[in-house]
Amino acid sequence: MLLNAQDYRREARRLLPRFVFDYVDGSAEDGRCLQRNLDDLDALTLTPRVLRDTTAIDTSIDVFGTRWRVPFGIAPMGLNGLVRPGGDAMLATAAAQAGAAFALSTASNMRLEDVRAAAPGGVQWMQLYVMHREMAKRIVQRAQRAGYEALVLTVDVPVSGNRELDIRNGFKMPFKPTPKLAWDLMTHPRWALRAALAGAPDFANITADGEATGSASMQAALLARAMDRGLVWDSLGWLRELWQGPLLLKGLLHPADARLALTHGVDGLIVSNHGGRQFDGAPSAISALPGVVEAVNGSIPVFFDSGVRRGSHIAKAIALGATAVFVGRPVLYGMAASGQVGAHRVLASFTEELIRTMTLLGARQVTDLRVAVKLD
Ligand SMILES: Cc1cc2nc3c(=O)[nH]c(=O)nc-3n(C[C@H](O)[C@H](O)[C@H](O)COP(=O)(O)O)c2cc1C
Repeated sequence: MLLNAQDYRREARRLLPRFVFDYVDGSAEDGRCLQRNLDDLDALTLTPRVLRDTTAIDTSIDVFGTRWRVPFGIAPMGLNGLVRPGGDAMLATAAAQAGAAFALSTASNMRLEDVRAAAPGGVQWMQLYVMHREMAKRIVQRAQRAGYEALVLTVDVPVSGNRELDIRNGFKMPFKPTPKLAWDLMTHPRWALRAALAGAPDFANITADGEATGSASMQAALLARAMDRGLVWDSLGWLRELWQGPLLLKGLLHPADARLALTHGVDGLIVSNHGGRQFDGAPSAISALPGVVEAVNGSIPVFFDSGVRRGSHIAKAIALGATAVFVGRPVLYGMAASGQVGAHRVLASFTEELIRTMTLLGARQVTDLRVAVKLD
């Protein structure tokens, strides 16, 4: 029976070829940061308040003037099309159905315009990787035209994390067929058939973008996460001029960086360690959250991701000051199990768990999680 994120993870492990599952599930080096994310979220407790009227629980929140039905969304993830062909649109649609936000990665396998059109009613943010300034500029302009509501610059990838599982699996471009890969595909025939019918996924945002930047070398650079390391605080002015709308930084952990973000006019932060996929020595994201919340002191919203596997984890991050929370791997596990329906079920399980958690805590509204619940 598939009831929760861990159940879907087991199902994804069964159904996906090993190299795909390892790419989704894996992390940097020894997986310590990933484990800290999970352990620290689990170790936190919330003390219930009793005998409060919880007949009606309201999970909606206001973010940059837009109402979200639930205080969470899907984190930006590259190569969703590897899990399922059309994966980007499936996730965007599942999110819209669940009333959750959706963030599209620069490294998506569908054009950003097509993903936006696939889920017209949903809240969609665009995530930006800057490998090449001209290319980034065009993506930002296209995202603006397509109606993305916010731009999220990911700042924790000056270089790719050391993903040894991917190296062992030969997961790089050009992808070379090996006997091990052939066996992997033969033993996962449903995935292999879908992939054969759809063709190999590519980074559609840059292939759609003309000769100069859509080259094979740019594609390989994106897979290898070879970013522009000259991008610094002062470069944010360049982005500010290009983008009219909320600009967020994703992948901050240090309170001093949060203060710098404020002085550079950023509109929101996402406290994240990339789900433990970048620096294995980083603190858990949840342990870094209070420091960042304190540093910004309510002047801009602070979002959170990394390690969320239960609705109660969402409640814990909100109790510590997050405005809303993003979920990464669990929705990919759901999509691996049963496409858009599976991704939606995972989101629905988070909503159900969150409502139960709020009821048990005596929190009628999301904001009550912050004021009425005492953290041990
Ligand atoms: C398969 C995969 C691909 C990802 N690709 C991106 C990406 O393209 N851009 C980005 O900012 N973060 C990316 N991330 C990080 C997520 O946005 C998010 O920070 C992380 O998954 C949260 O941790 P969780 O998986 O434990 O929920 C990726 C994560 C995964 C699992």
